[in-house]
Formats: sequence, C-alpha cells, structure tokens
Amino acid sequence: PTVYLNGQYLPLDQAKISVLDRGFLFGDGIYEVIPAYAGRLFRLPEHIDRLEASLKSIRLNSPHSREQWAGILEPLLEPGQDQYIYLQITRGVAPKRDHAFPEHIEPTVFAMCSPIVPLSGRDSGVKAITLDDTRWALCHIKAITLLANILLRQNAVDQGCTEAILVKDGYVTEGAASNIFAVLDGILVTPPKGEEILPGITRDVILELARTNDIPYSEDIISLEALKTADEIWLTSSTREIIPVVELDSEPVSDGKPGPVWQKMHQLYQEFKK
Ligand code: PDD
Repeated sequence: PTVYLNGQYLPLDQAKISVLDRGFLFGDGIYEVIPAYAGRLFRLPEHIDRLEASLKSIRLNSPHSREQWAGILEPLLEPGQDQYIYLQITRGVAPKRDHAFPEHIEPTVFAMCSPIVPLSGRDSGVKAITLDDTRWALCHIKAITLLANILLRQNAVDQGCTEAILVKDGYVTEGAASNIFAVLDGILVTPPKGEEILPGITRDVILELARTNDIPYSEDIISLEALKTADEIWLTSSTREIIPVVELDSEPVSDGKPGPVWQKMHQLYQEFKK
C-alpha cells in the first residue's frame, strides 16, 4: 500500500521518520480518522474543521489550507471501496529533546488508508464495561497521546468486552475510542460537547438524523445509575459506525438484544452514508 509522508506518496515500507520526531518522543501531535464510502470521503469538511481545532489547541499552524487536504488524501483511496484515512500531524523533528516548543521546525504530516471492516458481532450487539475515566483534562483534542485510552480499552478486552465506557464523577463521558448514546425513557441521550469528550463526527450525524426523522433526543449528562437502567446503549465512531451494547458490566441491557431505536438509526445511517 501507498502512504503519504511530507509531500510524497511512498510504499509503506519506505515511509520513514526520525527518532527525534516529537510524535515519537512526546506524543506531541494530533490525528483524524476520516471514513470514505464507495471511495468518497464522508463528512470531510467536518473532519477538517475538527483537525484545525485540534491543531489550534496544541498551537500548531495548519501545514495546509482547507482546500489542499482533499487533494492530499484522495489519491490514497481505492475507487469504490469502503476505507478510512488515518491522518497524523506532529510538531515535527527537533534537534534535541526538550519539552518546550522548538523554533523553526516543520510539522510531520503522515496519512494512510485502510479498509473498513465491519465489527464482527455488531448486529447482535457487544459487551462493555464501565471504568473510571483516567484520561487527562483536554479530551476534546484529538491528540495522538492515547496511553490512557489504550489501557482502558485493553482492560475491557481482557474482560471479554468490546469497549470501556468511561465514568467521571458519577457521569458517563464516552468510550475509550467512541462516543456514547443511551435511550432513557424513550429519549435518545448523549452527553453534551465539552472538554470531557471528543466531539465525534458520527455523533453529530446521528443527532442530525434524529432531528430530521423526529426521533426525540437530547444532549444531556447521563449518570452511571441512569445508564444501568437504559433501554438501549450505543457506541459510535467513524470506523465502527453505531454499535449496540447488549451487556453492561455483565448485566443485560433491557432484554439483551439490540433495540428498536438502534435498528432505526442504523438503517438511517446506512442510507445517509451512501
Ligand atoms: N476514534 N471518542 C473518542 C475518544 C474517540 O477516539 C473517537 C474516535 C470517538 C468518535 O469520533 P468519530 O465519530 O469522529 O470517529 C469518540 C477514532 C476512530 C480512533 O481513534 O481510531
């Protein structure tokens, strides 16, 4: 496969960066994951908006204009395929290791494309556990520094679960690599945007679909207690779309099957992404 690195398209095994890259030494960078359906980038302007917001939050100037990104990413796509682009920008290669920003360095820009493989078992639902949200205070930045998320996800996998649902001060924030929705008393609820969660693009699509299809919804905090009695729980992301959770902390969610609101939203999403 061909990847993009700093202006060049290269075979994967020829794409190399310095060990002094601040992404490698410090995790000093941000990323995006952008799905493409039938070879077309999905919600590109929204992903670029979030990319620019992440860059601004870490005080990195965008190395390319909004218009340039599509031209950089599109050559990586295979025509007609469902794939996702991973795009990463780090602060770049500095002459020495020093926490403070180095002067006069160029960001490192890397992008690659992978097939979207639907999560096995998605249609029958997955298991999740709740864990204390041990991440940092700026979770709205799509930072490559993902050690807490990795440990949380692995803890879930070690317990036979697909995702860790994170809880901060008694309230649910999101999954280790996904946003969360719950159906509570017939209303689709997802936590509001803020520094505690990543503003998911899939999350926004779902809220838009709820609005245009008269599905009652609200952006509101969800206590762990409320989650435990939810009629439905979903996890959402660009690579996995909408996944129903049918078992939470070893207890069935409702009757232990994906619910009717998920069925409906899943169908709407499949239509919408075409
Ligand atoms: N993760 N919250 C977190 C912490 C995430 O890492 C992700 C996505 C989301 C969902 O955002 P979106 O709908 O824009 O994909 C929410 C990506 C897919 C990843 O890290 O691979």
